Amino acid sequence: MAKIKSQYICQACGAISSKWSGKCDACGDWDTLVEEAVQAVPKGLGSGKGQILDWQPLSKTDMVTARMSTTMPELDRVLGGGLVDGSAILIGGDPGIGKSTLLLQLCAAVGKQNMPVAYISGEESESQIALRASRLGVMSDKVKVATATSVRDILSSLDRMPEVGMVVIDSIQTMYIDNIDAAPGTVSQVRASSNELIRQAKKRGFILMIVGHVTKEGQIAGPRVLEHMVDTVLYFEGERGHSYRILRAVKNRFGGTDEIGVFEMTDKGLSEVTNPSAVFLTNRDHPVSGAAIFAGMEGTRPILVEIQALVSPSYMSSPRRAVVGWDSSRLAMLLAVLETRCGLKFSDKEVYLNVAGGFRINEPAADLAVATALVSAMTDKPIATQTVCFGEVGLSSEVRQVTRADARLKEAEKLGFIRAICPQIKSSKSLTIEIKSLETLGELVTRFIAKPEVTEAA
Ligand code: TYD
Ligand code: MG
Repeated sequence: MAKIKSQYICQACGAISSKWSGKCDACGDWDTLVEEAVQAVPKGLGSGKGQILDWQPLSKTDMVTARMSTTMPELDRVLGGGLVDGSAILIGGDPGIGKSTLLLQLCAAVGKQNMPVAYISGEESESQIALRASRLGVMSDKVKVATATSVRDILSSLDRMPEVGMVVIDSIQTMYIDNIDAAPGTVSQVRASSNELIRQAKKRGFILMIVGHVTKEGQIAGPRVLEHMVDTVLYFEGERGHSYRILRAVKNRFGGTDEIGVFEMTDKGLSEVTNPSAVFLTNRDHPVSGAAIFAGMEGTRPILVEIQALVSPSYMSSPRRAVVGWDSSRLAMLLAVLETRCGLKFSDKEVYLNVAGGFRINEPAADLAVATALVSAMTDKPIATQTVCFGEVGLSSEVRQVTRADARLKEAEKLGFIRAICPQIKSSKSLTIEIKSLETLGELVTRFIAKPEVTEAA
Protein backbone atom coordinates (compact mmCIF):
# COMPACT_ATOMS: atom_id res chain seq x y z
CA MET A 1 0.00 0.00 0.00
CA ALA A 2 1.27 3.42 -0.87
CA LYS A 3 2.32 5.37 2.17
CA ILE A 4 0.16 8.47 2.72
CA LYS A 5 2.53 11.36 3.11
CA SER A 6 1.77 13.70 5.92
CA GLN A 7 2.88 17.11 7.01
CA TYR A 8 2.55 19.10 10.20
CA ILE A 9 0.57 22.31 10.06
CA CYS A 10 0.64 24.92 12.81
CA GLN A 11 -2.98 25.46 13.83
CA ALA A 12 -2.23 29.00 14.88
CA CYS A 13 -0.36 30.48 11.92
CA GLY A 14 -0.67 27.88 9.17
CA ALA A 15 3.07 27.27 8.77
CA ILE A 16 3.93 23.85 7.31
CA SER A 17 6.70 21.66 8.65
CA SER A 18 7.83 18.19 7.61
CA LYS A 19 8.37 16.94 11.15
CA TRP A 20 6.61 17.39 14.44
CA SER A 21 8.01 19.62 17.11
CA GLY A 22 6.64 21.04 20.32
CA LYS A 23 7.01 24.63 19.20
CA CYS A 24 6.11 26.20 15.85
CA ASP A 25 9.27 27.70 14.31
CA ALA A 26 7.27 30.35 12.47
CA CYS A 27 5.07 31.88 15.18
CA GLY A 28 6.63 30.46 18.34
CA ASP A 29 3.39 29.01 19.70
CA TRP A 30 3.61 25.75 21.65
CA ASP A 31 1.79 22.52 20.91
CA THR A 32 0.06 23.78 17.80
CA LEU A 33 1.48 21.39 15.15
CA VAL A 34 -1.06 18.86 13.91
CA GLU A 35 -0.45 16.08 11.42
CA GLU A 36 -2.46 16.39 8.21
CA ALA A 37 -2.32 14.44 4.97
CA VAL A 38 -0.52 16.14 2.10
CA GLN A 39 -2.97 17.16 -0.60
CA ALA A 40 -1.63 16.43 -4.09
CA VAL A 41 -0.92 19.69 -5.88
CA PRO A 42 -0.69 19.36 -9.69
CA LYS A 43 2.54 20.66 -11.18
CA GLY A 44 2.06 23.63 -13.53
CA LEU A 45 -1.16 24.23 -15.43
CA GLY A 46 -0.84 21.35 -17.89
CA SER A 47 -2.11 21.83 -21.43
CA GLY A 48 -5.17 23.83 -22.48
CA LYS A 49 -5.77 27.51 -23.13
CA GLY A 50 -7.22 29.91 -20.60
CA GLN A 51 -9.97 32.41 -21.26
CA ILE A 52 -8.98 35.93 -22.25
CA LEU A 53 -9.66 38.42 -19.48
CA ASP A 54 -12.33 41.05 -20.00
CA TRP A 55 -10.33 44.21 -19.21
CA GLN A 56 -12.24 47.14 -17.76
CA PRO A 57 -11.12 50.78 -17.80
CA LEU A 58 -10.82 51.71 -14.11
CA SER A 59 -12.83 54.90 -14.52
CA LYS A 60 -15.73 53.04 -16.12
CA THR A 61 -15.81 50.13 -13.70
CA ASP A 62 -18.86 49.87 -11.47
CA MET A 63 -18.11 50.65 -7.87
CA VAL A 64 -19.52 48.59 -5.04
CA THR A 65 -21.92 51.07 -3.58
CA ALA A 66 -24.82 48.88 -2.55
CA ARG A 67 -24.61 49.09 1.19
CA MET A 68 -27.38 47.92 3.40
CA SER A 69 -27.82 49.31 6.86
CA THR A 70 -28.09 46.65 9.54
CA THR A 71 -30.33 49.04 11.51
CA MET A 72 -27.87 48.51 14.36
CA PRO A 73 -25.86 51.75 14.34
CA GLU A 74 -22.99 50.31 16.42
CA LEU A 75 -22.55 47.47 13.93
CA ASP A 76 -22.93 49.76 10.91
CA ARG A 77 -20.17 51.97 12.22
CA VAL A 78 -17.73 49.07 12.54
CA LEU A 79 -18.64 47.79 9.08
CA GLY A 80 -17.88 51.19 7.58
CA GLY A 81 -21.51 52.16 6.94
CA GLY A 82 -23.35 48.89 6.44
CA LEU A 83 -23.21 45.52 4.73
CA VAL A 84 -21.84 45.28 1.19
CA ASP A 85 -23.36 42.71 -1.20
CA GLY A 86 -21.14 39.72 -1.88
CA SER A 87 -18.75 40.55 0.94
CA ALA A 88 -17.30 37.98 3.31
CA ILE A 89 -17.06 39.00 6.95
CA LEU A 90 -15.27 37.08 9.67
CA ILE A 91 -16.26 37.55 13.29
CA GLY A 92 -13.61 36.22 15.64
CA GLY A 93 -13.65 36.03 19.39
CA ASP A 94 -13.31 33.83 22.45
CA PRO A 95 -15.96 31.16 22.91
CA GLY A 96 -18.93 32.45 24.89
CA ILE A 97 -18.28 36.11 24.22
CA GLY A 98 -21.56 36.54 22.31
CA LYS A 99 -20.86 35.99 18.60
CA SER A 100 -23.89 33.75 18.02
CA THR A 101 -26.09 36.15 19.93
CA LEU A 102 -24.90 39.13 17.88
CA LEU A 103 -25.38 37.29 14.60
CA LEU A 104 -28.83 36.06 15.48
CA GLN A 105 -29.84 39.62 16.30
CA LEU A 106 -28.26 40.77 13.04
CA CYS A 107 -30.16 38.08 11.08
CA ALA A 108 -33.44 39.25 12.56
CA ALA A 109 -32.61 42.90 11.78
CA VAL A 110 -31.73 42.02 8.19
CA GLY A 111 -34.81 39.79 7.90
CA LYS A 112 -36.97 42.68 9.01
CA GLN A 113 -35.79 44.57 5.94
CA ASN A 114 -37.24 41.79 3.81
CA MET A 115 -33.97 40.11 2.98
CA PRO A 116 -34.06 36.31 3.29
CA VAL A 117 -31.34 35.02 5.61
CA ALA A 118 -29.91 31.53 6.14
CA TYR A 119 -28.40 30.81 9.56
CA ILE A 120 -26.38 27.60 9.56
CA SER A 121 -25.14 26.35 12.87
CA GLY A 122 -22.72 23.51 13.40
CA GLU A 123 -22.86 23.92 17.14
CA GLU A 124 -26.50 24.28 18.14
CA SER A 125 -29.67 22.47 17.13
CA GLU A 126 -32.52 24.30 15.39
CA SER A 127 -34.58 24.21 18.57
CA GLN A 128 -31.74 25.67 20.63
CA ILE A 129 -31.48 28.52 18.13
CA ALA A 130 -35.24 29.03 18.21
CA LEU A 131 -35.18 29.10 22.01
CA ARG A 132 -32.46 31.73 21.95
CA ALA A 133 -34.31 33.76 19.30
CA SER A 134 -37.51 33.76 21.32
CA ARG A 135 -35.60 34.85 24.41
CA LEU A 136 -34.02 37.65 22.41
CA GLY A 137 -37.43 38.55 20.99
CA VAL A 138 -36.19 38.30 17.41
CA MET A 139 -38.46 35.65 15.87
CA SER A 140 -38.67 36.08 12.12
CA ASP A 141 -40.08 34.23 9.11
CA LYS A 142 -37.37 35.59 6.87
CA VAL A 143 -34.66 33.82 8.85
CA LYS A 144 -34.22 30.15 7.97
CA VAL A 145 -32.17 28.02 10.35
CA ALA A 146 -30.51 24.66 9.87
CA THR A 147 -27.95 22.55 11.65
CA ALA A 148 -25.26 21.37 9.26
CA THR A 149 -21.53 20.86 9.08
CA SER A 150 -20.97 19.62 5.53
CA VAL A 151 -20.06 22.44 3.16
CA ARG A 152 -21.28 20.32 0.25
CA ASP A 153 -24.75 19.99 1.84
CA ILE A 154 -24.83 23.68 2.67
CA LEU A 155 -23.95 24.79 -0.86
CA SER A 156 -26.42 22.37 -2.47
CA SER A 157 -29.17 23.66 -0.18
CA LEU A 158 -28.26 27.27 -0.90
CA ASP A 159 -28.55 26.51 -4.62
CA ARG A 160 -32.24 25.97 -3.99
CA MET A 161 -32.54 29.32 -2.21
CA PRO A 162 -31.66 31.80 -5.00
CA GLU A 163 -33.30 34.63 -3.07
CA VAL A 164 -31.00 34.36 -0.02
CA GLY A 165 -29.27 37.65 0.78
CA MET A 166 -27.18 36.74 3.79
CA VAL A 167 -25.68 33.47 4.98
CA VAL A 168 -24.29 32.95 8.48
CA ILE A 169 -21.88 30.10 9.20
CA ASP A 170 -21.55 29.44 12.95
CA SER A 171 -18.78 28.40 13.28
CA ILE A 172 -16.18 27.70 10.62
CA GLN A 173 -14.38 25.33 13.02
CA THR A 174 -17.27 22.87 12.75
CA MET A 175 -17.43 22.83 8.93
CA TYR A 176 -15.81 20.22 6.71
CA ILE A 177 -15.44 19.26 3.07
CA ASP A 178 -15.73 15.50 2.57
CA ASN A 179 -12.91 15.10 0.06
CA ILE A 180 -10.31 16.51 2.43
CA ASP A 181 -8.78 13.99 4.76
CA ALA A 182 -8.61 16.04 7.93
CA ALA A 183 -10.84 16.63 10.93
CA PRO A 184 -13.12 19.71 11.11
CA GLY A 185 -11.33 22.60 12.73
CA THR A 186 -7.91 21.80 11.25
CA VAL A 187 -6.23 24.42 9.12
CA SER A 188 -6.83 22.44 5.89
CA GLN A 189 -10.56 22.11 6.55
CA VAL A 190 -11.02 25.66 7.78
CA ARG A 191 -9.17 27.04 4.80
CA ALA A 192 -10.88 24.87 2.18
CA SER A 193 -14.37 25.31 3.64
CA SER A 194 -14.05 29.08 3.81
CA ASN A 195 -12.57 29.21 0.34
CA GLU A 196 -15.54 27.36 -1.11
CA LEU A 197 -18.10 29.42 0.83
CA ILE A 198 -16.45 32.73 -0.05
CA ARG A 199 -16.29 31.75 -3.74
CA GLN A 200 -20.03 31.11 -3.73
CA ALA A 201 -20.73 34.37 -1.91
CA LYS A 202 -18.84 36.36 -4.56
CA LYS A 203 -20.44 34.44 -7.40
CA ARG A 204 -23.99 34.73 -6.15
CA GLY A 205 -23.68 38.06 -4.37
CA PHE A 206 -24.90 37.07 -0.92
CA ILE A 207 -23.35 38.45 2.24
CA LEU A 208 -21.37 35.79 4.07
CA MET A 209 -20.78 36.04 7.81
CA ILE A 210 -18.32 33.51 9.19
CA VAL A 211 -17.87 32.93 12.92
CA GLY A 212 -14.44 31.84 14.08
CA HIS A 213 -13.43 30.92 17.61
CA VAL A 214 -10.00 31.89 18.84
CA THR A 215 -8.44 30.38 21.88
CA LYS A 216 -5.42 31.83 23.58
CA GLU A 217 -3.65 28.48 23.30
CA GLY A 218 -4.14 28.50 19.52
CA GLN A 219 -5.36 24.89 19.75
CA ILE A 220 -8.18 25.31 17.27
CA ALA A 221 -7.36 26.54 13.79
CA GLY A 222 -7.78 30.18 14.61
CA PRO A 223 -9.37 32.62 12.20
CA ARG A 224 -5.89 34.03 11.71
CA VAL A 225 -5.38 31.82 8.65
CA LEU A 226 -8.63 33.18 7.27
CA GLU A 227 -7.90 36.83 7.67
CA HIS A 228 -6.46 37.32 4.21
CA MET A 229 -9.33 35.45 2.54
CA VAL A 230 -12.20 37.63 3.75
CA ASP A 231 -13.05 41.29 3.10
CA THR A 232 -13.65 42.28 6.68
CA VAL A 233 -12.38 40.93 9.97
CA LEU A 234 -14.19 41.91 13.14
CA TYR A 235 -13.17 40.91 16.64
CA PHE A 236 -15.65 40.69 19.43
CA GLU A 237 -13.93 41.21 22.73
CA GLY A 238 -14.61 41.90 26.36
CA GLU A 239 -13.31 41.10 29.80
CA ARG A 240 -14.82 38.11 31.54
CA GLY A 241 -17.02 39.25 34.39
CA HIS A 242 -17.90 42.50 32.64
CA SER A 243 -21.03 42.87 30.60
CA TYR A 244 -19.56 45.29 28.05
CA ARG A 245 -18.50 43.91 24.69
CA ILE A 246 -16.50 45.71 22.05
CA LEU A 247 -16.68 44.94 18.36
CA ARG A 248 -13.51 46.05 16.65
CA ALA A 249 -12.68 46.08 12.94
CA VAL A 250 -9.13 44.85 12.34
CA LYS A 251 -9.40 44.65 8.57
CA ASN A 252 -11.98 46.23 6.32
CA ARG A 253 -11.88 46.50 2.55
CA PHE A 254 -14.93 48.76 2.67
CA GLY A 255 -14.14 51.13 5.52
CA GLY A 256 -11.77 52.22 8.27
CA THR A 257 -10.23 49.78 10.71
CA ASP A 258 -10.07 51.80 13.85
CA GLU A 259 -13.79 51.97 14.58
CA ILE A 260 -15.40 50.19 17.49
CA GLY A 261 -18.96 49.32 18.40
CA VAL A 262 -19.93 49.01 22.05
CA PHE A 263 -22.56 46.56 23.26
CA GLU A 264 -23.81 45.42 26.61
CA MET A 265 -24.76 41.79 27.24
CA THR A 266 -28.09 41.76 29.03
CA ASP A 267 -30.61 39.01 29.77
CA LYS A 268 -32.34 40.05 26.52
CA GLY A 269 -29.21 39.73 24.41
CA LEU A 270 -26.86 42.45 23.24
CA SER A 271 -28.02 46.02 23.51
CA GLU A 272 -26.21 48.85 21.81
CA VAL A 273 -24.41 51.41 23.93
CA THR A 274 -24.73 54.70 22.15
CA ASN A 275 -22.92 56.77 24.74
CA PRO A 276 -19.94 54.63 25.77
CA SER A 277 -18.23 57.43 27.70
CA ALA A 278 -21.02 57.41 30.24
CA VAL A 279 -20.67 53.67 30.95
CA PHE A 280 -16.92 53.60 31.37
CA LEU A 281 -17.02 56.43 33.89
CA THR A 282 -17.66 55.89 37.56
CA ASN A 283 -20.12 58.31 39.07
CA ARG A 284 -18.56 59.97 42.05
CA ASP A 285 -19.54 62.97 44.12
CA HIS A 286 -16.24 63.50 45.88
CA PRO A 287 -12.77 63.09 44.39
CA VAL A 288 -10.58 60.12 45.39
CA SER A 289 -6.85 59.81 44.94
CA GLY A 290 -5.51 57.62 42.15
CA ALA A 291 -8.39 58.05 39.71
CA ALA A 292 -8.01 60.05 36.48
CA ILE A 293 -10.34 60.40 33.52
CA PHE A 294 -8.74 59.83 30.14
CA ALA A 295 -10.26 61.51 27.09
CA GLY A 296 -9.47 58.88 24.48
CA MET A 297 -10.34 58.27 20.84
CA GLU A 298 -11.48 55.04 19.26
CA GLY A 299 -11.46 55.62 15.54
CA THR A 300 -13.49 58.72 14.88
CA ARG A 301 -15.23 58.51 18.20
CA PRO A 302 -14.13 60.06 21.48
CA ILE A 303 -14.49 57.87 24.57
CA LEU A 304 -13.92 58.87 28.17
CA VAL A 305 -12.60 56.18 30.49
CA GLU A 306 -11.50 56.13 34.10
CA ILE A 307 -7.98 55.03 34.92
CA GLN A 308 -7.35 53.87 38.48
CA ALA A 309 -3.97 53.52 40.14
CA LEU A 310 -2.99 52.14 43.51
CA VAL A 311 0.47 52.51 45.00
CA SER A 312 1.37 50.57 48.15
CA PRO A 313 4.61 49.92 50.03
CA SER A 314 6.49 46.76 49.08
CA TYR A 315 9.06 44.74 51.02
CA MET A 316 10.09 42.62 48.07
CA SER A 317 13.23 43.06 46.01
CA SER A 318 11.20 43.40 42.82
CA PRO A 319 7.89 45.03 43.73
CA ARG A 320 4.75 43.90 41.97
CA ARG A 321 3.31 45.77 38.99
CA ALA A 322 -0.09 44.62 37.75
CA VAL A 323 -1.98 46.16 34.84
CA VAL A 324 -5.48 45.52 33.51
CA GLY A 325 -6.51 47.16 30.24
CA TRP A 326 -3.21 48.83 29.37
CA ASP A 327 0.26 47.93 28.15
CA SER A 328 2.54 46.83 31.01
CA SER A 329 5.75 47.89 29.26
CA ARG A 330 4.30 51.36 28.77
CA LEU A 331 3.60 51.49 32.52
CA ALA A 332 7.22 50.49 33.23
CA MET A 333 8.37 53.34 30.97
CA LEU A 334 6.16 55.91 32.73
CA LEU A 335 7.32 54.74 36.16
CA ALA A 336 10.93 55.13 35.01
CA VAL A 337 10.25 58.64 33.71
CA LEU A 338 8.47 59.63 36.95
CA GLU A 339 11.33 58.23 39.03
CA THR A 340 14.29 59.52 37.00
CA ARG A 341 12.98 62.85 35.74
CA CYS A 342 10.48 63.86 38.40
CA GLY A 343 12.02 62.38 41.55
CA LEU A 344 9.07 60.21 42.59
CA LYS A 345 10.36 56.93 44.00
CA PHE A 346 8.32 53.94 42.85
CA SER A 347 11.06 51.32 43.15
CA ASP A 348 10.01 50.36 46.69
CA LYS A 349 6.28 50.44 45.89
CA GLU A 350 3.82 48.03 44.40
CA VAL A 351 1.86 49.57 41.53
CA TYR A 352 -1.57 48.45 40.36
CA LEU A 353 -3.27 49.99 37.34
CA ASN A 354 -6.78 49.33 36.14
CA VAL A 355 -8.89 50.68 33.31
CA ALA A 356 -12.47 50.75 34.59
CA GLY A 357 -15.33 48.89 32.94
CA GLY A 358 -13.21 46.22 31.24
CA PHE A 359 -12.09 48.60 28.51
CA ARG A 360 -8.72 48.21 26.80
CA ILE A 361 -6.68 51.26 25.82
CA ASN A 362 -4.12 51.09 23.03
CA GLU A 363 -3.40 54.79 22.57
CA PRO A 364 -0.13 56.40 23.74
CA ALA A 365 -2.29 59.47 24.41
CA ALA A 366 -3.28 57.78 27.68
CA ASP A 367 0.24 58.34 29.12
CA LEU A 368 -0.62 61.61 30.79
CA ALA A 369 -3.83 60.26 32.34
CA VAL A 370 -1.95 57.23 33.69
CA ALA A 371 0.83 59.44 35.00
CA THR A 372 -1.71 61.73 36.67
CA ALA A 373 -3.41 58.75 38.32
CA LEU A 374 -0.02 57.46 39.50
CA VAL A 375 1.11 60.82 40.91
CA SER A 376 -2.26 61.27 42.59
CA ALA A 377 -2.08 57.78 44.13
CA MET A 378 1.52 58.32 45.22
CA THR A 379 0.89 61.70 46.86
CA ASP A 380 -2.57 60.62 48.09
CA LYS A 381 -4.03 63.83 46.71
CA PRO A 382 -7.10 63.55 44.52
CA ILE A 383 -7.46 65.10 41.12
CA ALA A 384 -10.15 67.75 40.91
CA THR A 385 -13.49 66.33 39.88
CA GLN A 386 -14.71 67.13 36.36
CA THR A 387 -11.15 67.02 35.01
CA VAL A 388 -10.02 65.03 31.99
CA CYS A 389 -6.43 64.24 30.94
CA PHE A 390 -4.75 63.30 27.69
CA GLY A 391 -1.28 63.59 26.16
CA GLU A 392 1.66 61.43 25.25
CA VAL A 393 4.72 61.42 27.53
CA GLY A 394 8.24 61.21 26.08
CA LEU A 395 11.32 59.73 27.74
CA SER A 396 12.63 63.15 28.71
CA SER A 397 9.28 63.71 30.47
CA GLU A 398 7.98 66.13 27.83
CA VAL A 399 4.22 66.11 27.29
CA ARG A 400 3.58 65.65 23.59
CA GLN A 401 0.74 66.55 21.27
CA VAL A 402 -1.83 63.97 20.34
CA THR A 403 -4.28 63.74 17.46
CA ARG A 404 -7.86 65.01 17.58
CA ALA A 405 -7.47 67.16 20.69
CA ASP A 406 -10.57 69.16 19.77
CA ALA A 407 -12.80 66.10 19.52
CA ARG A 408 -11.57 64.90 22.92
CA LEU A 409 -12.24 68.27 24.54
CA LYS A 410 -15.65 68.55 22.94
CA GLU A 411 -16.72 65.14 24.24
CA ALA A 412 -15.46 66.04 27.73
CA GLU A 413 -17.41 69.28 27.62
CA LYS A 414 -20.52 67.46 26.45
CA LEU A 415 -20.32 65.18 29.50
CA GLY A 416 -20.00 68.10 31.90
CA PHE A 417 -16.23 68.26 32.41
CA ILE A 418 -14.89 71.72 33.06
CA ARG A 419 -11.11 71.27 33.05
CA ALA A 420 -8.51 69.45 30.93
CA ILE A 421 -4.90 68.60 31.76
CA CYS A 422 -3.23 68.22 28.38
CA PRO A 423 -0.31 69.33 26.18
CA GLN A 424 -0.23 72.89 24.87
CA ILE A 425 -2.83 73.06 22.16
CA LYS A 426 -4.59 75.57 20.02
CA SER A 427 -8.17 74.75 20.79
CA SER A 428 -11.06 76.18 18.89
CA LYS A 429 -12.75 79.26 20.32
CA SER A 430 -16.10 77.54 20.64
CA LEU A 431 -14.85 75.47 23.56
CA THR A 432 -15.37 76.76 27.07
CA ILE A 433 -13.52 73.98 28.89
CA GLU A 434 -10.57 75.33 30.90
CA ILE A 435 -7.21 74.10 29.60
CA LYS A 436 -4.38 73.44 32.03
CA SER A 437 -1.55 72.83 29.65
CA LEU A 438 1.71 71.15 30.59
CA GLU A 439 5.11 71.10 28.93
CA THR A 440 6.64 68.42 31.11
CA LEU A 441 5.50 65.82 33.59
CA GLY A 442 7.61 67.62 36.19
CA GLU A 443 5.10 70.52 36.17
CA LEU A 444 2.34 68.10 37.05
CA VAL A 445 4.28 66.68 39.98
CA THR A 446 5.18 70.15 41.29
CA ARG A 447 1.57 71.21 41.03
CA PHE A 448 0.45 68.15 42.96
CA ILE A 449 3.00 68.55 45.70
CA ALA A 450 2.27 72.25 46.04
CA LYS A 451 -1.47 71.79 46.34
CA PRO A 452 -3.96 69.02 45.88
CA GLU A 453 -5.71 69.33 42.57
CA VAL A 454 -9.10 69.39 44.21
CA THR A 455 -11.92 71.48 42.85
CA GLU A 456 -11.55 74.36 45.29
CA ALA A 457 -7.80 74.64 44.87
CA ALA A 458 -7.61 74.26 41.08
P1 TYD B 1 -22.91 33.16 22.59
O1 TYD B 1 -23.51 34.12 21.63
O2 TYD B 1 -23.43 31.76 22.58
O3 TYD B 1 -21.33 33.13 22.46
P2 TYD B 1 -20.40 32.59 21.28
O4 TYD B 1 -21.27 32.32 20.12
O5 TYD B 1 -19.43 33.71 21.06
O6 TYD B 1 -19.72 31.39 21.79
O7 TYD B 1 -23.09 33.83 24.01
C1 TYD B 1 -23.05 33.05 25.11
C2 TYD B 1 -23.03 33.88 26.37
O8 TYD B 1 -23.87 34.99 26.34
C3 TYD B 1 -23.50 33.01 27.47
O9 TYD B 1 -22.49 32.99 28.47
C4 TYD B 1 -24.76 33.61 27.96
C5 TYD B 1 -24.73 35.01 27.47
N1 TYD B 1 -26.07 35.50 27.09
C6 TYD B 1 -26.68 36.45 27.85
O10 TYD B 1 -26.16 36.90 28.86
N2 TYD B 1 -27.92 36.91 27.49
C7 TYD B 1 -28.55 36.46 26.39
O11 TYD B 1 -29.68 36.91 26.09
C8 TYD B 1 -27.90 35.47 25.59
C9 TYD B 1 -28.55 34.92 24.35
C10 TYD B 1 -26.66 35.02 25.96
MG1 MG C 1 -21.72 30.41 19.36
